[in-house]
Amino acid sequence: MMPSGKPTDQMNRRGLLLSVAASGLVAACGGGGGGSSGGGGGGSSSSSSSSSSSASSSSSSSSSSLPDPATAPSLKTQFASHFKIGFAVDPWLTSQSPTHDLLLKHASTITAESVMKANPIGVSAGVYDFTQADALIAFAQANGINVRGHALVWHQTSPSWFFDGDRSDMTAYKALVRSRLETYVTDVVTHFKGKVYCWDVVNEVTSDDASATYRNSDWYQIFGSDFIDYAFRAARAADPSVKLFINEYSTEDAAKRGRLMTIVQGMLDRGVPVDGVGHQMHINTGYPSAAQVEAALSDVEAKGLINHVTEMDVSIYNDSGSCYSGTGCLPALTPGTAAFNTAMTTQAQKYRELFNVFTAHTSVQAVTMWGVADNHTWLDNYPVARKNYPLLFDAAGGPKAAFWAIVDPGFTP
Ligand code: G3I
Repeated sequence: MMPSGKPTDQMNRRGLLLSVAASGLVAACGGGGGGSSGGGGGGSSSSSSSSSSSASSSSSSSSSSLPDPATAPSLKTQFASHFKIGFAVDPWLTSQSPTHDLLLKHASTITAESVMKANPIGVSAGVYDFTQADALIAFAQANGINVRGHALVWHQTSPSWFFDGDRSDMTAYKALVRSRLETYVTDVVTHFKGKVYCWDVVNEVTSDDASATYRNSDWYQIFGSDFIDYAFRAARAADPSVKLFINEYSTEDAAKRGRLMTIVQGMLDRGVPVDGVGHQMHINTGYPSAAQVEAALSDVEAKGLINHVTEMDVSIYNDSGSCYSGTGCLPALTPGTAAFNTAMTTQAQKYRELFNVFTAHTSVQAVTMWGVADNHTWLDNYPVARKNYPLLFDAAGGPKAAFWAIVDPGFTP
């Protein structure tokens, strides 16, 4: 079993757990460098279903030809008996191609990729800008799509005004900051009451390493873990029916999950109104295994809580730990090359094996991809600027091998 790279905050800054680079992939990369950002993914996915030629497409081709895109089933219909399924998207993308049509055909849930966080919503204490968030809600309501609220409290998007004040009297300072937090959560949850079915109340509050249970964020430095309780209780008071989640990355890593479960159990012991755990699932073609994901879901079930997969993408780069410090990243793969086709195949196999786990667990009530198609993914710029192809649809919106692998058991990636 390949040792995984030791996670550190830098390496996991945005939720990718590392594993040792697959040397085969490195060897196959060869002169990869052609994957300029946005350049490599332009090909259409439609393979010539009638001709004997192999898949013609570059951006989504794999070792086997792909079915006719026109025969692609709707994901929301295909998985309706198991869970809501959908995508992260920001409002300005909902009218663009291929995003618009894919959302209408496939999504029963969407998440705001960025516009429902305290930055940008929280302008200052008691002052909010809901413009972009309301635009996304309007799109969802016009098209009968459910919305996941993401995220009320995240250290990366907590505007500095939350923490303004004189710390010479810490009792008064903590009361002031607590009031700001509770007011923010109350006002935002009230604003979206009846428009979102759940909230990621807190995001990424778990320590990445064994030196601590909690991330040492600004919130934690001021309140210890109390800020988590304040946020959940304020959210529940503002909306008695919305489901409340704690959202985290690398939950498939047993050590980190152990720390998260300690946090969750403490919340349950204190009567904090938590309904479920969000597993971000920012993974890659080489990690994690189905067994690791199964264990993560089972640990949450053992506490009687709901599972959501909240931010799934499968990077085609199985980078070593050094990449997250800026060195040793795998070179970009070029669509149409053998290495790229191999990556598409292994990606499809990874999606299939994990979706088989998701559908086997009735506790999984929603699965959200962190993006719609490969034309827009945060992974094009993380951990380095390098074109990635982590999603189910190629840049033109064509179903990739990964899509067919989760909807057709007879399809061979
Ligand atoms: O919309 C503004 C634009 O008006 C402005 O000109 C521009 C330059 O400042 O910024 C734009 O906002 C950016 C926003 O994405 C929309 O593109 C923010 O700067 C940028 O920080 C934001 O990044 C998002 C990030 O969360 C922070 O909200 C990423 O797209 C999004 O993929 C990422 O998602 C996170 C999850 O919420 C939590 N898990 C990890 C995941 C990846 O980091």
